[in-house]
Amino acid sequence: MVKICCIGAGYVGGPTMAVIAFKCPAIEVAVVDISFARITAWNSDQLPIYEPGLEDIVKQCRGKNLFFSTEVEKHVSEADIIFVSVNTPTKTRGLGAGKAADLTYWESAARMIADVSKNDKIVVEKSTVPVKTAEAIEKILTHNSNGIKYQILSNPEFLAEGTAIQDLFNPDRILIGGRETPGGQKAIQALKEVYAHWVPEDRIICTNLWSAELSKLAANAFLAQRISSVNAMSALCEATGADVTQVSHAVGKDTRVGSKFLNASVGFGGSCFQKDILSLVYICECNGLKEVANYWKQVIQVNDYQKNRFVNRVVSSMFNTVSGKKIAILGFAFKKDTGDTRETPAIDVCKGLLGDNANLSIYDPQVTEDQIRKDLSMKKFDWDNPIHLQPMSPTVMKQLNVVWDAYAATKGAHGLCLLTEWDEFKTLDFKKIYDNMQKPAFVFDGRNIVDEQKLREIGFIVYSIGKPLDGWLKDMPAVA
Ligand code: UDX
Ligand code: UDX
Ligand code: ADP
Repeated sequence: MVKICCIGAGYVGGPTMAVIAFKCPAIEVAVVDISFARITAWNSDQLPIYEPGLEDIVKQCRGKNLFFSTEVEKHVSEADIIFVSVNTPTKTRGLGAGKAADLTYWESAARMIADVSKNDKIVVEKSTVPVKTAEAIEKILTHNSNGIKYQILSNPEFLAEGTAIQDLFNPDRILIGGRETPGGQKAIQALKEVYAHWVPEDRIICTNLWSAELSKLAANAFLAQRISSVNAMSALCEATGADVTQVSHAVGKDTRVGSKFLNASVGFGGSCFQKDILSLVYICECNGLKEVANYWKQVIQVNDYQKNRFVNRVVSSMFNTVSGKKIAILGFAFKKDTGDTRETPAIDVCKGLLGDNANLSIYDPQVTEDQIRKDLSMKKFDWDNPIHLQPMSPTVMKQLNVVWDAYAATKGAHGLCLLTEWDEFKTLDFKKIYDNMQKPAFVFDGRNIVDEQKLREIGFIVYSIGKPLDGWLKDMPAVA
């Protein structure tokens, strides 16, 4: 029986291993983590992450061929294939602060593998890492090897949160990079056999190590670039009277462009896009490729611009001040169907509004009050000028209210901001909401999910990203 161990029971490690266990009953999969709380949650009825379909799969496999454990060393030493899926946040201090990936967790995992291994191992990079990380890991392993042979593979994960199980069941591709040596090719084959249990062979791409590592960063950069491109267009649409949904529909019909991932929004969030682009920028700079670095930096700059633009629009529409006004925030997660708030645009939008003294009433179906308060009190790391901004003052925190539903959030509010495209927001009773709001009542739709005409008929003043502006908004131009 092949034994797999995955170090790191997070958003990537947890669902990926659950699906491997589900699809390969003859493989024993152990997911280990240093966080006792996380492992306890994985072993309970309340999984640590919300992901549609995940609970079902975990319940079917847990205790049979899927195990969650804090006995990291034991499972690592027993495994044939070790996936490393630990976090790789952006460095916040020292060399490369604000851009480079922090490989502390990776390095400590590699050293631990070297310490406890007694037989040959395949070590698989699952978390996104800078190009050439495999080389560094290889060095750590071989310098501490005691004769044990290690093969390093890069097998980046392309799942998106909220659709993780779907993506894992039916991936566009599986990418496996390895050394171009007989040992490297044998290791690639061994990992390929795992995926071949359910993924058609023509979707399993094998490359060299560096191509695999770079492809993951490139894929995220290309995806984020599409969003920044359409968001940049949305600003121009508002200025000219074009409608960004019509423009992106027309553009996306060109099969060379394609229609997916062209939805204008308040900005992209999530743990990957910004972090991976920053990492890409840093790698370019380290290699003296200033123009390439600047090109990709623009993708993040446009994203920051889009979030600022949204805040400015809210404030300028409401007579240039939101001070003391109640603003409802519907949705805090970085996208629907996840409780994840990492880099969510809601953080910047809320901070912007709080900075203008607004009183916020926030509702998200999956994000806890604790998490929201934590996110809004955290220092923001300014990636271009590595300085820490001040944490939020206790008075500002008092301007914040977290509530249990959209109706409570909007009651008595002057305006409402839709920041996550949760399905339940599409079917809200907006007449009821309007009746309970201050007048004039404003809707700022950061996800283009409401029917603006219907809302205007009810009486709302409506702002949708990249759509022709209401007369009201035209008279109150936002300075971006
Ligand atoms: C992303 C990649 O899609 C995935 O392949 C990779 O493995 C990890 O990073 P994820 O961050 O989970 O996945 O979500 P994704 O669906 O890509 O959305 C990222 C952000 O972009 C969200 O904030 C989303 O709302 C936003 N988005 C997405 C848009 O604003 N417009 C779009 O058209 C698509
Ligand atoms: C382009 C658009 O494709 C077409 O839809 C529009 O109506 C007019 O402009 P054209 O300029 O004739 O058409 O040729 P196109 O095939 O788009 O190539 C433009 C340039 O891009 C060429 O120099 C081509 O060599 C280059 N190119 C294209 C690349 O370098 N790489 C590619 O992957 C594709
Ligand atoms: P991702 O979104 O990439 O899955 P997460 O932050 O959700 O990232 O998960 C990474 C997990 O890795 C965390 O639960 C963390 O506790 C775990 N981790 C980090 N370092 C180690 C280590 N050396 N050994 C075991 N687990 C680790």
